[in-house]
Amino acid sequence: MEVIIRPTTESAVKFTARLIADQLRANPKMVLGLATGRTMEAVYAELARMHREEGLDFSQAQSFNLDEYIGLSGDNKNSYRYYMNYHLFNHVNIDKSKTNLPNGMAEDPIAEGERYEAAIKAAGGVDMQLLGIGRDGHIGFNEPLSSLNSRTRAKALTPETYEQNAPLFDKPEDMPMRAFTMGVGTIMDAKSVILLVTGAEKAQILKKAVEGPVTSMISATALQYHNKALVICDEEAGALLEGKKYYNWIFEKEPQWQKYHNI
Ligand code: F6R
Repeated sequence: MEVIIRPTTESAVKFTARLIADQLRANPKMVLGLATGRTMEAVYAELARMHREEGLDFSQAQSFNLDEYIGLSGDNKNSYRYYMNYHLFNHVNIDKSKTNLPNGMAEDPIAEGERYEAAIKAAGGVDMQLLGIGRDGHIGFNEPLSSLNSRTRAKALTPETYEQNAPLFDKPEDMPMRAFTMGVGTIMDAKSVILLVTGAEKAQILKKAVEGPVTSMISATALQYHNKALVICDEEAGALLEGKKYYNWIFEKEPQWQKYHNI
């Protein structure tokens, strides 16, 4: 795992978008793993800008999102399909038929989980998985006690996640209590992962995720076992990290990061 701490939220966001863009330029057919949530909105705005102003080309790419609410169809404003169209897909030249999310309206949840896993496999696996972290430490919607080997499935959401996300609904009580999510095992199969964390309210959980013991109570800790996991955070989210000085030193010295120092 590597940790990169940027001075501001804006720079953490731009850094993340630039890494995605560089990978996409190197491999135009890449399979992107995408996340939703407040943190990612600015990343998608930056990718859309890069498409508009720099010609960043998504035409051959494919994508798989982490999760979708159960019971919401894609035209529901609070579904993650709607979010992805609204924040990214409508603004870049990705072929929408190659963008994938679990089907929140699927009648058989077990079959839907298996279908999604098979589709990821058929695409050759996810090349780069983008992740945010929930206040309870979830990645995707892998809530506390999710098996660290779990695969795509239906998951009941915690009261904390409910509290975190219900305000995004016009009527908070409309927020579904369950969602489909890639499992921790599914996420761990991605060839690389980027966890983007911003804001002071995530500082406590980020410290546990990066420097604490691996536990299914905090699914993000599983990333400590990933061979290519990069955590990007802003100063506020990284404020409690004990190894801060060391992480900054690596970022300053490692040749691969030289070209990113000015972001
Ligand atoms: C959403 C997802 C979640 C969010 C997390 C943080 O697809 O996978 O794990 O990344 O809940 O959400 P925000 O960014 O709203 O704090």
